[in-house]
Parts: sequence; C-alpha cells; structure tokens
Amino acid sequence: MKSHSLIKVVGLCSLGGVFAVLLNASPAYPTKPTNLLDNNGNIVGMVTPATQLDTIKSTGDLTKVRLKGWSAFGAESVVFQKMGKRIVLAFLEESALPDVKKGKVKQDVYETEWNESSIVVWVSTSDITSSKKDIWKNANKLFNERCGGCHQPHPAHEFTANQWPNIVNAMKDRAGLTTDEKWLLTKYMQNHAKDIK
Ligand code: HEC
Repeated sequence: MKSHSLIKVVGLCSLGGVFAVLLNASPAYPTKPTNLLDNNGNIVGMVTPATQLDTIKSTGDLTKVRLKGWSAFGAESVVFQKMGKRIVLAFLEESALPDVKKGKVKQDVYETEWNESSIVVWVSTSDITSSKKDIWKNANKLFNERCGGCHQPHPAHEFTANQWPNIVNAMKDRAGLTTDEKWLLTKYMQNHAKDIK
C-alpha cells in the first residue's frame, strides 16, 4: 500500500516537472540599451544590457518578455536588480507605471520601502541574446582594451556596485566609450563588484 502511494507521489512530481519546464520562460538578455515597447509599439521605457528578461513569445521581429526587479517606493520608474543596489535594469515612462505588477514589499536599512515589480513589454528580437556569457565576454574585452591604457586596470572587485556608475561616468570620455558601451561596462563592473555574488 505504502509503496503504491509513493509511486503516485513520484508520478505527480514528474508531471509537475514537465509543466514546470513548459511554463519556464527561457531567459534572454539585451546586448545593448534597448527600447521597451507596449502592445501598440509605443516606447514605454529602456532596458540596460545584460538584464534578464523572461521570454513569453516571439513574433519574429519582436519578442514579448517579462522584466522583473525592485523599485523604491515613490520612484517606481526606475527598476533595479536588487533592493538597495544602484544596478539599473530599466527606466520606465510614466505611461507604463499602471502596467507594473507589484509583488513583495521589503524595507532596507534606511527604512526605504522596496517593491518587487514586474512588467510585460516587447523588445526587438535582434537586440537580445540567450547567452549572458557572450555579453560579459564583450564587456570584458572592452574593459581590457579601454581601461588599462593610462593606469593599471582597476578590476571590478575593487569597488562596490554603488560606486561603479560614478567611476565609469568619470572615465567615459577618457576611455572613448559610447553611451551604449558605458551602459555595458557599468552593468559588467557592477555585477562583478566586491559586494555582489
Ligand atoms: C585617458 C586616460 C584614462 C583612461 C583611458 C581611463 N582612466 Fe581611469 N583614471 C585616469 C586618471 C587620470 C585617474 C586619476 C583620478 C582622476 O583623475 O579621476 C583615473 C582613476 C581611475 C580610478 C580610480 C578611482 C579611485 O577612486 O581610486 C578607477 C577605478 C578608474 N580610473 C577606472 C577606469 C576604468 C574602468 C576605465 C575604462 C572605462 C578607465 N579608468 C580608463 C585616467 C584614465
């Protein structure tokens, strides 16, 4: 009797597993700062390189995705990767805010309230890749080519995620970075910073 019900449980679990795989949207990552579009094709925001997007469906030129992150209470137009870290995933237009779904609420050490938030939008299929590794490889190449000419290169783990945006901004012109390259390098340095695992 016992073994019979065990088989049932195992059977149910593996079924659950199949559903989980079917429902599990595959991740995609923008290779550069990319526009977010609503169902009518209007621009409703911008997503930064290497941000994880969960793909919902693709119609060829455009891919429908879900973007998830954290926003500070009262400043919902900026979506961050982690609560309390200045790693920007996306900027949203005011017009997109009613479509943002709110999840968990948490408080950081400064008693700022953070909301888990997600939004479903469209991105250009040609601007995304399934390989985050390739994006980081390009960013690392950029770092090696542009950041060691004047001084010893300062590796990502020398500074925190919150320090890197100002440093990269200060070095942008010196290193001849375009705005797209600046975003790529900023995200790369932040995600490999000393306080990020
Ligand atoms: C054209 C020369 C030049 C290039 C290229 C350059 N830097 Fe710098 N960097 C400097 C100078 C000069 C300083 C000294 C401090 C200052 O003036 O800001 C500096 C300082 C720094 C510091 C030290 C900040 C501190 O507080 O200790 C970091 C980190 C840094 N650079 C990172 C970078 C990165 C990342 C890149 C590539 C995007 C880069 N640098 C490219 C000239 C350059």
